[in-house]
Amino acid sequence: MRLLRRTGQGVSKGLLITNVRLVDGHSDFRGDLYIEDGLISAVGRGLRIPDADVLPGGGRTLLPAFVDLHAHFRDPGYPEKEDIESGSAAAVHGGYTAVAVMANTNPVCDRPEIATYMQEKAARAGLIELYPLGTITRGIAGEELSNMDGLAPHIWAFSDDGRGVERPNVALLAFRRAAALGRPIAEHSEYRGIDDPALAEEVMVNRDLLLARRTGCALHVEHVSSVGSVELISAAKRDGVPVTCEVTPHHLCLEPGYIVNPPLVPREVRERLLAALASGVIDAVATDHAPHTAADKEKGAPGISGIETAFPLLHSRLVRTGQLDLQSLVRAMAARPARILGLNKGSLEPGRDGDVVLIEEDEEFTVTEDWLLSRGKNTPLIGQRLRGRVWATVRRGQVVHLDGKTFGRDFDDHRSIV
Ligand code: DOR
Repeated sequence: MRLLRRTGQGVSKGLLITNVRLVDGHSDFRGDLYIEDGLISAVGRGLRIPDADVLPGGGRTLLPAFVDLHAHFRDPGYPEKEDIESGSAAAVHGGYTAVAVMANTNPVCDRPEIATYMQEKAARAGLIELYPLGTITRGIAGEELSNMDGLAPHIWAFSDDGRGVERPNVALLAFRRAAALGRPIAEHSEYRGIDDPALAEEVMVNRDLLLARRTGCALHVEHVSSVGSVELISAAKRDGVPVTCEVTPHHLCLEPGYIVNPPLVPREVRERLLAALASGVIDAVATDHAPHTAADKEKGAPGISGIETAFPLLHSRLVRTGQLDLQSLVRAMAARPARILGLNKGSLEPGRDGDVVLIEEDEEFTVTEDWLLSRGKNTPLIGQRLRGRVWATVRRGQVVHLDGKTFGRDFDDHRSIV
């Protein structure tokens, strides 16, 4: 099937996507979108562009591509769970073109060389933009600060994700250093000594808000899962404390049962998390994509391989049921995480990066192990039927995923799809 057409005989200048419903945080209308030199150049009805490649949208919904603030690509160290190529393929299959990857690799990302290794490998794979996080402490041991000065130019934030920084003075020194370096602290908020998971989170959120207030360091609270944390963050935001936070698709949508850290929460808590997302107290949805082998999962490894199911799950469970409008979801998955990462992405305005996705809102599909491009098949959604499949992903005007196939560096010219 010929999916890309050409207008005119000359050399193509850009990509024209026709006949779509365009939705971003500001607008919702039917029309076309044109990307030239990697940037959105025009949106409107009946666009006529000489010498463009044309991707007929077939009435599908076009959104800004998603930006993930929190994923585990396990590279270096655990290629049997995921590596940067398979993680990138899974990301574009899920509609993500920019992904922040966590530092709990092996070796951990506590040195600049690890961050550059990750970025160079992602650039070679040619699918996504990868933004590493660097560890707060050496070896994620929670004792001594990592080489924060050396890491800072290569990372967007510092995090010991997988573990909270428990020792208060280590945390204070880290917040001070991160503030001086102009990088956020992204905290996995959990005191392991406390038996109540909500309290274990709230105690650390509370301490970190005090540290952010005192040091001026930007704090990003990862995978918020308690009402108390939301209340603390909301009050701190009102006071002008520089804090942002994220929630995962699974903490919004799934019943407790599957092992993930922090643990899944009951319906009343999910409803409060959703209300906080809709109001903007929770800034972003982040996947916490955590691929594991079947053997590790059986041994109790926490986490869900979720970057490919994030949008379909949220669309099926929250948008289609009328609990969240599509524009709010797009803000949470694209505009706000892009702003947090400092990227020129997340909306369909001319001048933004030409990163978009095409969604099949109505067609139902089944999540199977084969459908997932991630090596991690650890998701409780296997066998479930969802709607809101990502049909195509475009990064800077290049089709990087179409109908389950990915097109990275080996397919440098997206016209090879034709
Ligand atoms: O479920 C989780 N898995 N939560 C985390 O914080 C870490 C992650 C992992 O690395 O597997």
